[in-house]
Formats: sequence, structure tokens, C-alpha cells
Amino acid sequence: MIFDPQNIILKKIGNAADESGYRIFVVGGYVRDLILGVIDNDIDIMVLGDGIQFAELIAEKFKKPLDAVYKNFATALLNIDGYKIEFASARKESYNRSSRKPEVETAGLNEDLSRRDFTINALALGLNEDNYGILTDNFNGYRDIQDKIIRTPLDPLKTFDDDPLRIMRAVRFASRLNFKIDDRAFDAIKKMKDRLTEDKVVSQERITNEFLQILMTDKPSYGLDLLFKSGVMDTIFPELSALAGVEQRKEYHHKDVFYHTLIVVDNISLKTENLWLRFAALVHDIAKPRTKKFIEGTGWTFHGHEELGARMMKKIFIRMRLPINKLEYVEKLVRMHLRPIPLAKDDVTDSAFRRLAAEAGNELEDLLILCRADITSKNPDKVSRFMNNYVLVEKKIIEVQEKDELRNFQSPVRGNEIMEICGLKEGREVGIIKSKIEEAILDGEIKNDYEEAKKYLLDIKDKLLSSIMINKSKPPRLKKSAGS
Ligand code: CTP
Repeated sequence: MIFDPQNIILKKIGNAADESGYRIFVVGGYVRDLILGVIDNDIDIMVLGDGIQFAELIAEKFKKPLDAVYKNFATALLNIDGYKIEFASARKESYNRSSRKPEVETAGLNEDLSRRDFTINALALGLNEDNYGILTDNFNGYRDIQDKIIRTPLDPLKTFDDDPLRIMRAVRFASRLNFKIDDRAFDAIKKMKDRLTEDKVVSQERITNEFLQILMTDKPSYGLDLLFKSGVMDTIFPELSALAGVEQRKEYHHKDVFYHTLIVVDNISLKTENLWLRFAALVHDIAKPRTKKFIEGTGWTFHGHEELGARMMKKIFIRMRLPINKLEYVEKLVRMHLRPIPLAKDDVTDSAFRRLAAEAGNELEDLLILCRADITSKNPDKVSRFMNNYVLVEKKIIEVQEKDELRNFQSPVRGNEIMEICGLKEGREVGIIKSKIEEAILDGEIKNDYEEAKKYLLDIKDKLLSSIMINKSKPPRLKKSAGS
């Protein structure tokens, strides 16, 4: 099969390989994505022989220094025209194990491909003139791309044992590409899941990085559910798997919080690419298992789960090595996720809205996105009623904020100008006139605009001044004496 990568840089690198007698191939994600019709800027080039020496040669040809050289991994990095090109010697060693055993044994093309994670990533595209664009596909990776299957080239137990991070990668690719993980591989994941966290073979940062990538896929519920069903979730994020399950007592049952959460995450993912807002959706009910109570005559309650959930965040952030500067944001959204609900009633005071807006601060918009995503009822009438409630809440907040903006404002016609127009000296009168203008704006008689305010002042000035003067000249009222 022939695929023209139609990439001038690759053609040039291929020519250089021919001139210097190297055999080279594009491998990995670039080939997979090319077949899927996706353009990729990360290119992995496998070199039969010394990858670093070949990279140096190419760097010279493009008159650019290498951007990085990793001697232990026999790889080098070169950035050219927005492409990130990694040159690596073909090797027997699989990827991350090499951090424990750094010497990389060089190998031939087939051996290198067989030690890769999945058949869809074990494809190689020739770059030399005699095999330019010809696909080497020893493990039916092309067919698996067509069939949307994640399969390992070797026995999956071996592939995952070589590098347990591949357990996470399998789920990430399945979720990103909407592929199925084949049964043997999935069984191996179930068996090997504890290798992920055992002996520190894989760093927490890498696990978390894959986890967050799963959360950033279009439909994260797919990957999250695979993590759950394989038992991986229990290993890497037990607080989430603890959300699963339904308990029934008498006629009362509560919904399965794990599956509710998955719907909330999918809902929010339709609205936002903000990873931390998606994360907040993922953990918004995290404390429900810990706060669950059965109350006779009422049923199941989860009082205070929002506050406890917020408090659980710090430990989770530290354990998962999540960026601490996002902690406060996630805590705030978890803590406040129920707050807008009761504000949809008619008799709610302005100050309740003012308090919500003030506490949510810049996160108000995100909070309302979360609240809307949290509506997972299957009853369309309920959904539209709840959605509408948030429209009302939003409207009310805007109204109150607009009013508040007006409260804090000052008359657009300033004191000096008032004195000049009215022929007044500094004093109480100027203040009276100024607040008269401000009242007219607050009452909606005139717009909050300089021209309108000035015209209004000119219109009312004479009447106002004479009433001020009359009041001034009136003798002071006598206070009523006590008892009269
Ligand atoms: N690889 C592997 N095992 C790993 C990591 C990587 O076998 N744990 C191999 C795969 O062949 C993969 C290639 O190295 O295709 C490049 O890895 P990477 O850049 O991490 O992934 P890509 O497949 O390029 O995918 P992405 O789109 O996520 O970059």
C-alpha cells in the first residue's frame, strides 16, 4: 500500500538518507493519523542505525542546531517549519522501561515495530526513494484502523508489562478515536491494572497526563467508563469509582452517582474545552458516598456533599500531582454547584443574587455552565423547566448587577459643571442637584449619558434652584415639645 505523506520536509529528509546511505521510516502517530486523514505536526522518524548521527546530518542540511539530544534513548529532536521531528534508532527496547534500564539495544525494522504499543501505532512508511510512501504493516494495523480496534502487536500481557502506561494509552486512544479495545487486550488490562501504580514503574505525572487527556476527548464518558469497567479507575482514582452503585431501601433508591457524573461530564464537554471546568464536573459529587444517609420517610440524603467535596480536593490534587494553582477554582465550583438552584423562585431578594455573584466572582459563568450540565433527568419537561430556571437566575443576576453598577455610578455631569451652569458656589446645593440627576437615571427617566444628563439639568435647573432657595429662606420648623 502506498501513502504519499505529501510533506516536502519528509521528502528532503528521505533524499538526505539516500545520499548518506541510511534507511529511514516515518512511524507511530503520524502514520496512523495520515491514514485517518488527520494532519499531525509531530513526526517520529525511525532510523536503522544511529538515530542521533542521522539527526545531526539533517540538522546540518537544514542549517539548524538540534533542539535536544537524548543519548540514553538514542533519540534527537529537531524543530523545522512548525514540525517537531524526533529521530530515533530502531530498537528492541520498549519506551518507558528504558528509564529503568537506559541502554537501548538497536534492532531492525520488524523488531522495533513489534515492541510498540498498538497495531495502529506499529505502522511504518518508507522515506527512501525505493520505498517512498510504502507501508510496512506487519500486524494488520491498517485493518485495525478501518475496524476501529485497539489491539497489541504481541501478547497484550507482554506489551503492557513492557510499559504499563500503555494501559492508560489504550483507553486514551479508544476514547479519542472512538475505537474499541479488543477483548484480549481488555482482559490483559484488567489483569495488569495494578502494575500502573506498583513499584513506581510509571510516574504519577504520566498517569495523570493520560487521565486528563481522556477527560479532554469529545465524549469522555467512553474512556472513563472503560477505566471503571477494567478496574483501572479503582487503582488510579478510587474516589470516583466509589460513586458507582445504587442502593435501594424500601421504596427509595438513589441514582448511580458514577453514571450521573459521566453524563454531566459529557454534557459539559459539549460546552467547554476548559479542562478544569470538565474536571470540576467530574468531581462535583465526589463526596456523595461519604455523606449518604437514609432518613426514614424522606429517603436518601447527601447533606453537605458540596462542602466536603470541596475539602477533598486538596488531597486529590496533591496525590495526582495536579497543578495546585487550579485547586481553588475546582474547589469553588464544587462548593457552589448547588447554590444557584434555589434562586429561581419569585420571592428571592436582590441580595441573594448579589451574594452569589460576589462569591462566584469570575467563575460565575462557569458555575452556571456546570449547573446546566448537572441536569441529567430523562424527563424532557423537567429538563426544560430546570434549564429555564437557570435562564431566570442569569437574568436576575444581570439585572441586579446592572442596578448595582448604577448605584455605584456618579452623575455624568460633574460638580464643577453644575456650579458653573447654576451659578452656585461649592455647597450642599450642588450635592442636591447632583443626586437629583442620579435619581432620574436610576428611575430610568433619562439614560446614563452626559448629553441627556446635561439637558435634564438645564430643564430642571430653574425650578430646582427656586425650590432650594425657598427651603433655604423658610424659618426653621419648631420642634414639637414633648407632651404637646
Ligand atoms: N509508543 C509505544 N509505547 C509507549 C509510547 C509510545 O509503543 N508507551 C510508540 C507508539 O508506536 C507511538 C509512538 O511511540 O505511536 C510515538 O509515541 P507518542 O508520540 O507518545 O504517541 P503518538 O502515537 O504519536 O500519539 P499522539 O497523537 O498522542 O502524539
